[in-house]
Parts: sequence; structure tokens; C-alpha cells
Amino acid sequence: MKHTEIIKILQTEPTLHEITVRGWVRSFRSNRFIALNDGSTLHNLQCVVDFENFEEEVLKKVTTGAAIEVTGLLVESQGAGQAVEVQVNKLAVLGEADPEEVKLTILSPKRHTLEKLREQAHLRVRTNTFGAVMRLRSKLAFAIHEYFQVNGFYYMHSPIITGSDAEGAGEMFRVSSLDSKNPPLKEDGTVDFKQDFFEKETNLTVSGQLEAETYAMGLGKVYTFGPTFRAENSNTSRHLAEFWMIEPEVAFCDLDGNMDLAEDFIKYVIKYALENCADDLEFLENRLLQEEKTKPQAERSEMALREKLNFVLENNFKRVSYTEAIEILKRSKPNKKKKFKYLIEEWGADLQSEHERFLVEKHFKCPVILFDYPASIKSFYMRLNDDGKTVRAMDVLFPGIGEIVGGSQREERYDVLKQKMEVMGIPQDELYWYLDLRKFGTAVHSGFGLGFERLVQFVTGMGNIRDVIPYPRTPGNAEF
Ligand code: 4AD
Ligand code: MG
Repeated sequence: MKHTEIIKILQTEPTLHEITVRGWVRSFRSNRFIALNDGSTLHNLQCVVDFENFEEEVLKKVTTGAAIEVTGLLVESQGAGQAVEVQVNKLAVLGEADPEEVKLTILSPKRHTLEKLREQAHLRVRTNTFGAVMRLRSKLAFAIHEYFQVNGFYYMHSPIITGSDAEGAGEMFRVSSLDSKNPPLKEDGTVDFKQDFFEKETNLTVSGQLEAETYAMGLGKVYTFGPTFRAENSNTSRHLAEFWMIEPEVAFCDLDGNMDLAEDFIKYVIKYALENCADDLEFLENRLLQEEKTKPQAERSEMALREKLNFVLENNFKRVSYTEAIEILKRSKPNKKKKFKYLIEEWGADLQSEHERFLVEKHFKCPVILFDYPASIKSFYMRLNDDGKTVRAMDVLFPGIGEIVGGSQREERYDVLKQKMEVMGIPQDELYWYLDLRKFGTAVHSGFGLGFERLVQFVTGMGNIRDVIPYPRTPGNAEF
């Protein structure tokens, strides 16, 4: 048996040759029209059955959710909605789906809420919405690799299990082979990690950046694209405990070069989606339009999905320093009625997502790159500016999403880095290799991290990050 693809069949001219195709039944109307879907495309293949030619017993098993194989002629369709259809000569049910049981699942043909779909994450990819989202996710991943490969970057695999905390934020999942209930103890009563598998404390990585820096210092331009893990207790529509991150790192590149790269890269992948995923985007756009209709006028989005994506392509991202942003926020009047309530901020404070959304959605009305943040609210590895209080950091902020990219020019000066690590309590003995980079041919270098799921959210218009990854990991949820 060889896999058949409905997407290819739908693009074929009607032929007098018989074709065989397999898929899952979406519906079987009037004992005559089977809507067959195999996941290769949003569109169903219409298979027309002359019921007199088939046994009742077989037809009874052609129910929503069942896997079937049909053989027949591909002909021009008489009905509206499709160019071709199959006139079924042979029909075999490969995997039955009991209608009584299907009724209790999200496979039943009615509108289910996204929350309901999340409860049956193993079945939701068979719905139109999740089929579209997951095809787009895959295409976006391809576009990302294509962008970097075509532009001279090498794909670098950073380790998943690490002995260091790249962000210095302490939000790590411990990896241990010790018996957690009865771990070996040292004389002072603390856990003896010398007896652990790696003979030290290890974690799942929060970012591949530090290792990517070591490779950029040899290969010049590299990128990572892998899973990252954060044990932050953020139950929001933008946070996952396990998410995928893309982290380019470039030698001989400063913050301006880094901003140019981020903007060019994001525009490339969005353009790729518009050009290569038109059907799925149209479906998701219509889905959103329906959803918008249920909202009060004031909360409705001003742009349709593809209009929003095109808008990003056509406009320059606005580059604004943190200090300027604070001035804008201070000047803005709090608006009690709307979402943006607390706009007055003092220099030095970290921006909350409502501030970021105000800047992007209300003030500039386009993607924004904020740069030169206070050193005190950013990670130890960012390059200190001459003012001694800000660092060469950048965050790319997107409408509806907030922060989609976080990056910086890295501190390449040995003494400055060493001193910063001391002040911020970053263990130098563990990160001796990171300091070494600054001893042996140090160079200006920069990079950033793009949260893949946040990008998929933006492109698909899905409101909750749990709905753009197959099996979301969030606090209290690691089912499947
Ligand atoms: O801003 P972050 O924490 O930056 C870093 O990890 C740097 N080491 C990246 C670098 O310079 N190489 O994370 C980068 C991006 C964020 O902008 C956001 O899009 C995403 O990763 N992100 C998350 N996405 C989903 N769930 C979470 N809990 C996320 N935390 C960060
Ligand atoms: Mg960040």
C-alpha cells in the first residue's frame, strides 16, 4: 500500500484512469456523497457512491471518522465547490468508527469550542481548524530553515540537557536520575549530586544561546531551532513550559545588524506563508471573522488576518529606545474603560504586556523594536552601553502578541563581562567556557530568540498559544 495525497488528486485533470485514494470520512450525505479528507489539504475530495451497487453492510460503516479506501474514475464534478470528484467503483472500510462513540468526541460534525478540542488533543488535528494550524506550523518551520540556509547560516544543535542557566533567571526543570523521594545526601544533609547521572546538577535548557555563541565564534553565522523549557508559573495565552525557539547568532554583527536580521527574517517567513498557505489562511481568516462578530464593536479587530500579515510586510518596524518608550507611556492618559489602564511607568521598570500592547496597537500601530533597556532588568550577557546603565538589548513587539523576539548584542569585553557576572551572581567557574570566548579572539556579536509558537499564533490568528502546538505543556498539564 502506498500513501495517496488528496491535495495532488485535486490538482489533477479529470482522467479516464482509475485512481485509488484513502482517507477519513468527514461526512456521508444522502447515502451518496462522501467527503473524504486525508490531512494533506483543507479540502475534501468528493466521492460519489451509487448506493445500489454496494452492499448495505458496507455503506453502514461509512461513518464520520472512519478510515476508508475508494477506487474509481476521477471525473469533472457536476456540483459546485469542487472541480473534480471520484465516481466510486470499489469501496473498502479500513477502520471503522462507531457513530455512538464518535458522537461523544470532537469528531462529531458540529462546532466545538477550542477548550473542548484541547481536552481531546489526540483527535483535534482531524478538525479543519487544527489541520490548517498544524500545516501552517510545519510550513513556517520549513520557511525558517530555508531563510537561514539560503542566507549562509549553519544549523547548530544546542544541547537539551545543560549544566548552565542561560538566562540566569532560575526557571529551570531539573534533570536527575536520583530517586527523588530518597536521594543520597551529603554529610551536611544536602543532596549529593556527585552521585547523580552527570555527577552534577543538570536542567532542561531554557535557551541554546550560550552554546550558539560558541559556534558563531567558529562558524560565523549559526542558528538553533529546538525545544526550550521554562518552569515559570505563567498561566497566560502566550506562555508554555515547553516551547520551540529559533536562535540565530552572528559574529561581527552589532545591534543594528541584529535588528535588520530580525525584521528581514520575520518578513520572509510571513511572506512565505501568504504565498504558500493561501487556502489554510483563508479558512482561518473566515473563522476569525465569525469569532469577531460575537464581540462588541469596540473590541473587533480592524484588519482581517491576511490584511494584518500584509501590513507587517509593507511597513518598517518602528525602532524606539526604551527611554523614549517610557516617555511615551508617561505622556499617555490612562484609559480606564479599555484594557490599557496603567500607563504611567518610571524609568527602570520592566514593561508589562499591557504597556507593550499600548505602544504597538495604540501608539505606533505597527510592529515595534524596543532597544537599549536598563541593564538591571536584562540578562548578564548583554553589552553594556557607554552610559553605564543601559544594555544593547532589543525586543520585537507584535500586535496581539506582545514580545515575539528577544535579543541583544553580546558583551564581548572580558573584564566587563566578568565584572557583571560577579555583580549579578552568575557562577563564573561553571561558565568558564563562556568567558573563554572573550579571551581567544573575541569579537562583536549578536543574536536573538524568536518564540516559534508566538509566530505561529500571529500568522494563524489563534488567540491561545495552547492551540498552536500539538501537545501544550502548561502548569498542571502534561497529559498525552
Ligand atoms: O526573551 P527570551 O527569554 O530570550 C532568550 O531566551 C534569549 N536567550 C534569546 C537569544 O538572544 N538568543 O525568549 C525569546 C523569545 C521571546 O521573545 C518569546 O517569543 C519566546 O522566546 N518565549 C516564550 N514563548 C512561549 N512560552 C514561553 N514561556 C516563552 N518564553 C519566551
Ligand atoms: Mg524576553
